Amino acid sequence: MNEFATDLTTDLATDLAHGLSQTPKSLSSKYFYDAAGSRLFQLIMGLPEYYPTRTELAIFTAQGAAIGAALAAGAAPGAPLLVVELGAGDGLKTKLLLRELLATARPLTYEPVDISPAALAELTAALAQELPALRTEPLAADYGAALDLLAARPEAKAVLFLGSNIGNFSPLEQAEFLRALAAPLSPADRLLVGFDLRKDPRRVQAAYDDDQGVTAAFNLNLLTRLNRELGADFDPEHWQHFPDYDPATGAMRSWLVSRRAQTVRVAALAGRAFEFSAWEAIQTETSFKFSLPQITELAAAAGLRVVATFQDEAGDFADVVLAR
Ligand code: AVI
Repeated sequence: MNEFATDLTTDLATDLAHGLSQTPKSLSSKYFYDAAGSRLFQLIMGLPEYYPTRTELAIFTAQGAAIGAALAAGAAPGAPLLVVELGAGDGLKTKLLLRELLATARPLTYEPVDISPAALAELTAALAQELPALRTEPLAADYGAALDLLAARPEAKAVLFLGSNIGNFSPLEQAEFLRALAAPLSPADRLLVGFDLRKDPRRVQAAYDDDQGVTAAFNLNLLTRLNRELGADFDPEHWQHFPDYDPATGAMRSWLVSRRAQTVRVAALAGRAFEFSAWEAIQTETSFKFSLPQITELAAAAGLRVVATFQDEAGDFADVVLAR
Protein backbone atom coordinates (compact mmCIF):
# COMPACT_ATOMS: atom_id res chain seq x y z
CA MET A 1 0.00 0.00 0.00
CA ASN A 2 1.15 3.52 -0.66
CA GLU A 3 0.23 6.88 0.77
CA PHE A 4 -2.53 7.53 -1.80
CA ALA A 5 -4.15 4.14 -1.26
CA THR A 6 -4.43 4.87 2.45
CA ASP A 7 -5.76 8.33 1.78
CA LEU A 8 -8.29 7.42 -0.91
CA THR A 9 -9.78 4.35 0.74
CA THR A 10 -10.58 6.14 3.99
CA ASP A 11 -14.06 5.12 4.98
CA LEU A 12 -17.07 7.29 4.12
CA ALA A 13 -18.33 7.52 7.72
CA THR A 14 -14.94 8.63 9.07
CA ASP A 15 -14.56 11.17 6.27
CA LEU A 16 -18.07 12.52 6.87
CA ALA A 17 -17.47 12.96 10.62
CA HIS A 18 -14.17 14.70 9.91
CA GLY A 19 -15.46 16.85 7.01
CA LEU A 20 -18.50 18.10 8.93
CA SER A 21 -16.25 19.14 11.84
CA GLN A 22 -14.18 21.44 9.59
CA THR A 23 -14.75 25.15 8.93
CA PRO A 24 -16.17 25.42 6.35
CA LYS A 25 -17.74 21.97 6.39
CA SER A 26 -16.57 19.79 3.53
CA LEU A 27 -16.77 16.34 1.96
CA SER A 28 -14.50 14.80 -0.67
CA SER A 29 -15.74 14.81 -4.28
CA LYS A 30 -14.54 11.21 -4.64
CA TYR A 31 -17.86 10.21 -3.02
CA PHE A 32 -19.90 11.58 -5.96
CA TYR A 33 -19.35 8.40 -7.94
CA ASP A 34 -21.83 5.77 -6.74
CA ALA A 35 -23.88 4.15 -9.53
CA ALA A 36 -26.32 7.09 -9.77
CA GLY A 37 -23.50 9.66 -9.53
CA SER A 38 -21.52 7.91 -12.29
CA ARG A 39 -24.61 7.98 -14.53
CA LEU A 40 -25.14 11.69 -13.80
CA PHE A 41 -21.48 12.40 -14.61
CA GLN A 42 -21.97 10.66 -17.98
CA LEU A 43 -24.85 13.10 -18.64
CA ILE A 44 -22.73 16.07 -17.51
CA MET A 45 -20.07 15.15 -20.06
CA GLY A 46 -22.66 15.55 -22.84
CA LEU A 47 -24.11 18.89 -21.62
CA PRO A 48 -23.79 21.93 -23.91
CA GLU A 49 -22.26 23.99 -21.05
CA TYR A 50 -19.71 21.33 -19.99
CA TYR A 51 -16.95 21.98 -22.57
CA PRO A 52 -13.98 19.94 -21.11
CA THR A 53 -14.96 16.44 -22.37
CA ARG A 54 -15.94 17.68 -25.84
CA THR A 55 -12.78 19.74 -26.13
CA GLU A 56 -10.43 16.95 -25.07
CA LEU A 57 -12.18 14.64 -27.55
CA ALA A 58 -11.62 17.25 -30.29
CA ILE A 59 -7.90 17.42 -29.40
CA PHE A 60 -7.60 13.62 -29.66
CA THR A 61 -9.57 13.55 -32.92
CA ALA A 62 -7.41 16.22 -34.57
CA GLN A 63 -4.01 15.32 -33.06
CA GLY A 64 -4.37 11.65 -32.03
CA ALA A 65 -1.54 10.42 -34.29
CA ALA A 66 0.93 12.95 -32.85
CA ILE A 67 -0.17 12.23 -29.27
CA GLY A 68 0.16 8.46 -29.86
CA ALA A 69 3.65 8.99 -31.28
CA ALA A 70 4.65 11.14 -28.28
CA LEU A 71 3.41 8.45 -25.87
CA ALA A 72 5.38 5.65 -27.54
CA ALA A 73 8.46 7.75 -28.32
CA GLY A 74 10.53 6.40 -25.42
CA ALA A 75 9.77 2.70 -26.08
CA ALA A 76 11.87 0.61 -28.50
CA PRO A 77 10.19 0.00 -31.92
CA GLY A 78 7.94 -3.07 -31.74
CA ALA A 79 8.42 -3.45 -27.96
CA PRO A 80 5.31 -4.10 -25.81
CA LEU A 81 3.57 -1.07 -24.38
CA LEU A 82 1.30 -0.95 -21.33
CA VAL A 83 -1.29 1.83 -21.32
CA VAL A 84 -2.65 2.47 -17.83
CA GLU A 85 -5.58 4.87 -17.53
CA LEU A 86 -6.59 6.28 -14.15
CA GLY A 87 -10.33 6.99 -13.88
CA ALA A 88 -11.09 5.45 -17.29
CA GLY A 89 -14.91 5.90 -17.18
CA ASP A 90 -16.42 5.08 -20.58
CA GLY A 91 -13.02 5.33 -22.34
CA LEU A 92 -14.58 7.23 -25.25
CA LYS A 93 -11.60 9.55 -25.76
CA THR A 94 -9.02 6.86 -25.04
CA LYS A 95 -10.26 4.61 -27.87
CA LEU A 96 -8.94 7.20 -30.32
CA LEU A 97 -5.45 6.97 -28.81
CA LEU A 98 -5.56 3.17 -28.54
CA ARG A 99 -6.34 2.96 -32.29
CA GLU A 100 -3.29 5.11 -33.03
CA LEU A 101 -1.07 3.01 -30.76
CA LEU A 102 -2.33 -0.27 -32.29
CA ALA A 103 -1.26 1.11 -35.68
CA THR A 104 2.35 1.27 -34.43
CA ALA A 105 2.48 -2.58 -34.64
CA ARG A 106 3.53 -3.39 -31.09
CA PRO A 107 1.88 -5.67 -28.49
CA LEU A 108 -0.47 -3.34 -26.64
CA THR A 109 -2.07 -3.93 -23.24
CA TYR A 110 -4.66 -1.49 -21.88
CA GLU A 111 -5.27 -1.42 -18.14
CA PRO A 112 -8.25 0.85 -17.39
CA VAL A 113 -8.49 1.62 -13.66
CA ASP A 114 -11.78 2.92 -12.27
CA ILE A 115 -13.66 2.75 -8.98
CA SER A 116 -16.87 1.82 -10.86
CA PRO A 117 -16.90 -1.94 -11.74
CA ALA A 118 -20.04 -1.36 -13.88
CA ALA A 119 -18.29 1.26 -16.04
CA LEU A 120 -15.26 -1.03 -16.45
CA ALA A 121 -17.38 -4.03 -17.49
CA GLU A 122 -19.10 -1.91 -20.16
CA LEU A 123 -15.80 -0.54 -21.41
CA THR A 124 -14.15 -3.98 -21.58
CA ALA A 125 -17.09 -5.41 -23.56
CA ALA A 126 -17.05 -2.46 -25.98
CA LEU A 127 -13.29 -2.76 -26.54
CA ALA A 128 -13.51 -6.51 -27.25
CA GLN A 129 -15.93 -5.64 -30.07
CA GLU A 130 -14.27 -2.51 -31.42
CA LEU A 131 -10.55 -3.23 -30.96
CA PRO A 132 -10.16 -7.03 -30.91
CA ALA A 133 -6.35 -6.83 -31.27
CA LEU A 134 -6.14 -5.02 -27.93
CA ARG A 135 -5.49 -6.90 -24.71
CA THR A 136 -7.59 -5.31 -21.94
CA GLU A 137 -6.93 -5.96 -18.24
CA PRO A 138 -9.45 -3.86 -16.25
CA LEU A 139 -8.79 -3.03 -12.61
CA ALA A 140 -11.68 -1.94 -10.36
CA ALA A 141 -9.76 0.01 -7.75
CA ASP A 142 -8.78 3.47 -6.57
CA TYR A 143 -5.76 5.41 -7.81
CA GLY A 144 -3.59 4.01 -5.03
CA ALA A 145 -3.91 0.44 -6.36
CA ALA A 146 -2.93 1.76 -9.80
CA LEU A 147 0.31 3.14 -8.38
CA ASP A 148 1.14 -0.27 -6.91
CA LEU A 149 0.40 -1.86 -10.29
CA LEU A 150 2.74 0.52 -12.13
CA ALA A 151 5.60 -0.44 -9.85
CA ALA A 152 5.01 -4.15 -10.53
CA ARG A 153 4.98 -4.09 -14.37
CA PRO A 154 8.21 -4.35 -16.41
CA GLU A 155 6.92 -3.12 -19.84
CA ALA A 156 7.31 0.41 -21.23
CA LYS A 157 4.37 2.45 -19.99
CA ALA A 158 2.07 5.26 -21.02
CA VAL A 159 -0.02 6.47 -18.09
CA LEU A 160 -3.16 8.48 -18.87
CA PHE A 161 -4.84 10.84 -16.42
CA LEU A 162 -7.39 12.67 -18.58
CA GLY A 163 -10.41 14.92 -18.27
CA SER A 164 -8.74 17.38 -15.87
CA ASN A 165 -9.31 14.89 -13.06
CA ILE A 166 -6.10 16.34 -11.62
CA GLY A 167 -8.04 19.57 -10.96
CA ASN A 168 -10.09 17.77 -8.30
CA PHE A 169 -6.96 17.55 -6.11
CA SER A 170 -5.74 20.48 -4.00
CA PRO A 171 -2.56 22.13 -5.37
CA LEU A 172 -0.44 20.28 -2.80
CA GLU A 173 -2.08 16.94 -3.66
CA GLN A 174 -1.62 17.61 -7.40
CA ALA A 175 2.17 17.73 -7.02
CA GLU A 176 2.21 14.83 -4.55
CA PHE A 177 0.07 12.67 -6.81
CA LEU A 178 2.16 13.40 -9.92
CA ARG A 179 5.30 12.67 -7.91
CA ALA A 180 3.83 9.34 -6.76
CA LEU A 181 2.85 8.54 -10.37
CA ALA A 182 6.33 9.43 -11.62
CA ALA A 183 8.20 7.36 -9.01
CA PRO A 184 7.65 3.89 -10.59
CA LEU A 185 8.25 5.19 -14.14
CA SER A 186 11.50 4.85 -16.11
CA PRO A 187 12.77 7.80 -18.19
CA ALA A 188 11.36 6.08 -21.32
CA ASP A 189 7.81 6.00 -19.91
CA ARG A 190 5.31 8.77 -20.56
CA LEU A 191 2.45 10.37 -18.67
CA LEU A 192 -0.43 12.12 -20.47
CA VAL A 193 -2.35 14.53 -18.25
CA GLY A 194 -5.43 16.53 -19.30
CA PHE A 195 -5.70 20.06 -17.83
CA ASP A 196 -8.69 22.39 -18.10
CA LEU A 197 -7.23 25.83 -18.83
CA ARG A 198 -8.22 29.25 -17.46
CA LYS A 199 -10.79 31.04 -19.60
CA ASP A 200 -13.76 33.44 -19.47
CA PRO A 201 -14.98 33.00 -15.87
CA ARG A 202 -18.61 33.01 -17.05
CA ARG A 203 -18.00 29.95 -19.23
CA VAL A 204 -16.36 28.09 -16.36
CA GLN A 205 -19.19 29.03 -14.01
CA ALA A 206 -21.84 27.93 -16.55
CA ALA A 207 -20.14 24.53 -16.99
CA TYR A 208 -20.91 23.79 -13.32
CA ASP A 209 -24.37 25.41 -13.29
CA ASP A 210 -26.13 23.95 -16.32
CA ASP A 211 -29.66 24.97 -17.32
CA GLN A 212 -31.06 21.43 -17.07
CA GLY A 213 -29.92 21.08 -13.45
CA VAL A 214 -27.87 17.91 -14.07
CA THR A 215 -24.85 19.23 -12.14
CA ALA A 216 -27.18 20.22 -9.28
CA ALA A 217 -28.59 16.65 -9.24
CA PHE A 218 -25.01 15.27 -9.30
CA ASN A 219 -24.06 17.36 -6.26
CA LEU A 220 -27.30 16.63 -4.35
CA ASN A 221 -26.94 12.89 -5.05
CA LEU A 222 -24.16 12.93 -2.46
CA LEU A 223 -26.83 13.46 0.24
CA THR A 224 -28.91 10.56 -1.10
CA ARG A 225 -25.79 8.40 -0.92
CA LEU A 226 -25.14 9.43 2.70
CA ASN A 227 -28.76 8.60 3.56
CA ARG A 228 -28.57 5.18 1.91
CA GLU A 229 -25.09 4.10 3.01
CA LEU A 230 -24.82 5.71 6.43
CA GLY A 231 -28.46 6.01 7.47
CA ALA A 232 -28.25 9.81 7.48
CA ASP A 233 -31.50 11.81 7.32
CA PHE A 234 -30.60 14.63 4.91
CA ASP A 235 -33.68 16.00 3.14
CA PRO A 236 -32.35 17.00 -0.31
CA GLU A 237 -35.27 19.46 -0.61
CA HIS A 238 -33.63 21.53 2.12
CA TRP A 239 -30.35 21.87 0.24
CA GLN A 240 -29.23 23.61 -2.91
CA HIS A 241 -26.33 23.31 -5.32
CA PHE A 242 -24.18 26.44 -5.52
CA PRO A 243 -21.08 26.73 -7.77
CA ASP A 244 -18.62 29.64 -7.49
CA TYR A 245 -15.55 30.34 -9.61
CA ASP A 246 -12.58 32.40 -8.41
CA PRO A 247 -10.71 33.64 -11.49
CA ALA A 248 -7.77 34.77 -9.31
CA THR A 249 -6.89 31.22 -8.22
CA GLY A 250 -8.65 29.17 -10.92
CA ALA A 251 -10.66 27.40 -8.19
CA MET A 252 -14.12 26.29 -9.32
CA ARG A 253 -15.88 25.30 -6.10
CA SER A 254 -19.16 23.45 -5.66
CA TRP A 255 -21.15 23.76 -2.46
CA LEU A 256 -24.28 22.25 -0.96
CA VAL A 257 -26.04 25.10 0.84
CA SER A 258 -28.47 24.52 3.68
CA ARG A 259 -31.69 26.41 2.88
CA ARG A 260 -32.73 26.58 6.55
CA ALA A 261 -31.39 25.92 10.05
CA GLN A 262 -31.51 22.14 10.44
CA THR A 263 -30.16 19.14 12.33
CA VAL A 264 -29.03 15.99 10.47
CA ARG A 265 -28.51 12.66 12.24
CA VAL A 266 -26.27 9.85 11.00
CA ALA A 267 -27.12 6.31 12.17
CA ALA A 268 -23.70 4.92 11.19
CA LEU A 269 -22.08 7.48 13.53
CA ALA A 270 -24.12 6.27 16.51
CA GLY A 271 -26.91 8.74 15.71
CA ARG A 272 -24.55 11.72 15.96
CA ALA A 273 -26.28 15.02 15.17
CA PHE A 274 -24.82 17.73 12.96
CA GLU A 275 -26.20 21.27 13.15
CA PHE A 276 -26.43 23.53 10.12
CA SER A 277 -27.38 27.18 10.30
CA ALA A 278 -29.49 28.74 7.56
CA TRP A 279 -27.39 29.22 4.38
CA GLU A 280 -24.40 27.40 5.82
CA ALA A 281 -22.48 25.58 3.06
CA ILE A 282 -20.67 22.24 2.71
CA GLN A 283 -17.86 22.34 0.16
CA THR A 284 -18.17 19.21 -1.99
CA GLU A 285 -15.71 19.79 -4.85
CA THR A 286 -12.96 21.98 -6.24
CA SER A 287 -12.15 21.76 -9.95
CA PHE A 288 -8.98 23.80 -10.50
CA LYS A 289 -8.34 25.51 -13.83
CA PHE A 290 -4.71 25.92 -14.94
CA SER A 291 -2.41 28.24 -16.90
CA LEU A 292 0.38 26.76 -19.06
CA PRO A 293 3.19 28.20 -16.84
CA GLN A 294 1.45 26.70 -13.81
CA ILE A 295 1.47 23.27 -15.51
CA THR A 296 5.23 23.52 -16.20
CA GLU A 297 5.81 24.51 -12.57
CA LEU A 298 3.63 21.69 -11.27
CA ALA A 299 5.49 19.16 -13.45
CA ALA A 300 8.85 20.43 -12.16
CA ALA A 301 7.64 20.21 -8.56
CA ALA A 302 6.82 16.53 -9.23
CA GLY A 303 10.21 15.80 -10.83
CA LEU A 304 8.75 15.73 -14.37
CA ARG A 305 9.40 17.67 -17.55
CA VAL A 306 6.93 18.73 -20.24
CA VAL A 307 7.71 16.80 -23.44
CA ALA A 308 4.80 18.03 -25.59
CA THR A 309 1.60 20.06 -25.22
CA PHE A 310 -1.51 19.51 -27.35
CA GLN A 311 -4.28 22.13 -27.24
CA ASP A 312 -7.52 22.94 -29.03
CA GLU A 313 -7.54 26.06 -31.22
CA ALA A 314 -9.34 28.21 -28.65
CA GLY A 315 -6.86 27.23 -25.93
CA ASP A 316 -9.60 25.89 -23.66
CA PHE A 317 -7.89 22.61 -22.71
CA ALA A 318 -4.39 21.10 -22.81
CA ASP A 319 -3.20 17.48 -22.96
CA VAL A 320 0.38 17.46 -21.74
CA VAL A 321 2.91 14.67 -22.25
CA LEU A 322 5.30 14.42 -19.29
CA ALA A 323 8.43 12.35 -18.62
CA ARG A 324 10.90 11.95 -15.77
C1 AVI B 1 -14.31 14.47 -12.87
N1 AVI B 1 -14.05 15.92 -12.80
C2 AVI B 1 -12.87 16.28 -13.60
C3 AVI B 1 -15.23 16.76 -13.10
C4 AVI B 1 -14.85 18.25 -12.96
O1 AVI B 1 -15.07 18.99 -13.90
O2 AVI B 1 -14.30 18.62 -11.92
C5 AVI B 1 -16.38 16.45 -12.17
C6 AVI B 1 -17.54 17.41 -12.32
N2 AVI B 1 -18.09 18.08 -11.33
C7 AVI B 1 -19.08 18.83 -11.78
N3 AVI B 1 -19.13 18.69 -13.11
C8 AVI B 1 -18.20 17.79 -13.43
